Amino acid sequence: MPTTASNTESATLIERMGLKPGHATIVGLQWGDEGKGKVVDMLAAEFDAVARYNGGANAGHTVVVGDEKYALHLMPSGILYPGKVNVLGNGVVIDPEQLVKEITGLRERGLTIDPATLFISSRAHVVLPYHKTQDRLQEAAYTMPNALDQVVEGIGTTGRGIGPCYADKALRSTAVRMADLADLESLRHQLHRIVPIKNATLKALCEYTGETHEPINADALLDWIKPLADILVPHLADTAGLLHKVGDEDKRILFEGANATLLDIDHGTYPYVTSSNCSSLGAHTGTGVPGHAVGNVIGIVKAYQTRVGGGPMPTELNDATGDRIREVGREFGTTTGRPRRCGWIDLVALRYTARVSGATAVCVMLLDVLADLPELKLCTGYRVDGKAYDGYPATSEELAKVEPVYETLPGFAGPVDGCKSIAELPESARAYLDFIADYLGVPVVLASVGPKRDQSAVR
Ligand code: IMP
Repeated sequence: MPTTASNTESATLIERMGLKPGHATIVGLQWGDEGKGKVVDMLAAEFDAVARYNGGANAGHTVVVGDEKYALHLMPSGILYPGKVNVLGNGVVIDPEQLVKEITGLRERGLTIDPATLFISSRAHVVLPYHKTQDRLQEAAYTMPNALDQVVEGIGTTGRGIGPCYADKALRSTAVRMADLADLESLRHQLHRIVPIKNATLKALCEYTGETHEPINADALLDWIKPLADILVPHLADTAGLLHKVGDEDKRILFEGANATLLDIDHGTYPYVTSSNCSSLGAHTGTGVPGHAVGNVIGIVKAYQTRVGGGPMPTELNDATGDRIREVGREFGTTTGRPRRCGWIDLVALRYTARVSGATAVCVMLLDVLADLPELKLCTGYRVDGKAYDGYPATSEELAKVEPVYETLPGFAGPVDGCKSIAELPESARAYLDFIADYLGVPVVLASVGPKRDQSAVR
């Protein structure tokens, strides 16, 4: 059983962070992997409910509690505290096998995961094995050489079937929702309608790419789902109604975003994005709780920049400093193990995402990773053809053209990992945080200086 922070300690944390009363959304402001899980985990002690609103098993967060390390992909981070209401909202796409794996793994480690603590939206969509096949074949098809392009960069998806599942959600006729798992006979009929369409699609993709796959059998798929449905169906709920009730009782909800604002399907660096609204805007469509109910948006930011997968990254460092950040920050994907591209913090992108997500506070994570660098650069502007660029590019082609303009600040000249408050940080580290806060016009309320809960310098 993990040790948990006491309520008093976390009440102090909320006060120290200067949050307004009421609900809060936690959202990544870069390309993901900012360390949202740690902040959700720390704040969950003070909130009554934690609701995940988007994405699926493409996300991954590692939470360290004492000497125990938890790698979660689907489970809301509040699950590590006993007695909280944990919600997987309608905007989440659920891989039933992965979710059951996480439930079983956490139960084996002594946590109580029951229908009174984990609520899954009946409206959430189901990721099925063929979505992963389709994800892989679609990437292969997209990157096939053709008559006009020599080299085409793929999206670089996590291969977790996210895009095809959200595409089916939009198509409707080929979608399966969690509610469908509650009536297996009806699901059998549904799968017999969907599977021939999927087989035709996958066959066409295979013919184009030269890849192979075994045709799906609807009855075998149903047999595979049945034991997973037995475990998950007791957790199904009208989660929007549940969250409204939580709010009506003056209890507090923490909305947990997966992925991050630059990966948002509408506002991110399209097409190198994921398939959901992962900005804070998705918290509302993804749970059924309206925007005016949420007064706090906590933007999570790494002290530097990382990106996994394809797409331009203006501040990327393909040099020894980039390698150093990757090594010290252990910048390898939780979900796929891929090395992350590393670079200096991009304040132009952050100003854009802080506005889109409406950040009212910012937490700067992994500050300790920069501790031994002699000087630090922060991108404060873009230039194209020698001229200052205004705003944030809408296309990846345009983003690929920008040149970053940097401000240089001195390094921290010493370790920061023992600091418990921002005031305790070396002056140079405080100057770095002040620079970020001033540029964004949003206060920095916490700097993370190590993976553990207590390695946090709070305001
Ligand atoms: P998908 O979400 O698997 O379709 O991947 C689409 C893009 O989003 C790829 O570039 C992924 O690397 C990226 N991506 C998706 N989820 C995350 C995340 O949680 N962290 C970082 N990158 C992600």
